[in-house]
Amino acid sequence: MNTKVYVVTGATSGLGKAVALELARTGATVILVARDPERGAQVQREISNATNNSNVELELCDLSNLSSVRNLAVILKNQYDKIDVLINNAGVYKRRRAVTLDGFEEMFAANYLGPYLLTRYLLDRLRSSSSARIINVTAPSTTELNFDDLQGEGQFNPLNAFGATKMANLLFTFELARRLQDTNIRVNAVHPGLVRSSLMREAPAPLRFLIWLTSSAPEQAARDVVSLATEPEFENTHGKFIRKGEEVEPPAYALDPDVRQKLWEVSENLTDADEPAANYDPTGSVAMHNDKEIPAGIIRPQDEPPQK
Ligand SMILES: NC(=O)c1ccc[n+]([C@@H]2O[C@H](COP(=O)([O-])OP(=O)(O)OC[C@H]3O[C@@H](n4cnc5c(N)ncnc54)[C@H](OP(=O)(O)O)[C@@H]3O)[C@@H](O)[C@H]2O)c1
Repeated sequence: MNTKVYVVTGATSGLGKAVALELARTGATVILVARDPERGAQVQREISNATNNSNVELELCDLSNLSSVRNLAVILKNQYDKIDVLINNAGVYKRRRAVTLDGFEEMFAANYLGPYLLTRYLLDRLRSSSSARIINVTAPSTTELNFDDLQGEGQFNPLNAFGATKMANLLFTFELARRLQDTNIRVNAVHPGLVRSSLMREAPAPLRFLIWLTSSAPEQAARDVVSLATEPEFENTHGKFIRKGEEVEPPAYALDPDVRQKLWEVSENLTDADEPAANYDPTGSVAMHNDKEIPAGIIRPQDEPPQK
């Protein structure tokens, strides 16, 4: 019996769905994190039926909403004594600047800040695994961060803003790896290559066409991510940027210790990550869990929001 517990974000399409399917074939518990309840349930059924695995679970979370992230963390911590692998895969590209309920630019929140907070909150369950792994799915971005305008309030260029989130994923990976050096948790970033998916559906048509021409099926890239998540040969791989199972050189900026430290501090302040803050979820993601017992620590949409 496979007792591993895998958490995969962005499991409703593209790479995340293909990764979750491969992981489910191992017979392990696979927790699909999705923001859309109906599509989430459909993918859960699909994967469970295709793999004959009844331990494919669905949890709902809008990663761009920090309350929703906190609620997901509380729910996961309530249901699982340990988590073996967290795959931060979800990502979004937006042509126009949009602002989340928390006041962050949407790509920055969904691609970086939400996953940062989720990872921080799940560390104690990862510590309970005999050998845990965190895999951050990103790209070889060379976009440097503008710390004076992380939310793109000044000039907003969607490709730059997206590139900055992928750079933030790299900086976070290397800083987290440094901080977890002497623990049981291994942290790496992975570049899946160009994957045929819905990610760039809002990108200009010529770029979409180019990506379509040069990309491969998600199943191919998924195999690389799954082997990083499961294979003993990667048990000691830590603080690396991986492409097709091989270490690749990250952009120099991503390794800059000052930038890494600065981003960590800024993120901690923006998310209150060091406080087990009360949760209030105005989007009602908790209400979607009505069929489950709501664990202590979660404030439901009908409750009073906590005073700031
Ligand atoms: N495609 C590529 O060529 C490529 C290259 C390098 C790196 N990557 C990275 O690979 C990862 C997966 O991308 P993909 O290509 O598979 O794209 P995709 O098919 O668009 O899948 C993205 C997933 O993320 C989910 N998601 C987006 N925003 C979310 C939010 N706020 N809360 C929760 N879930 C959210 C989506 O949910 P919905 O279904 O609800 O939208 C979907 O399940 C991303 O991190 C991306 O940056 C992709």
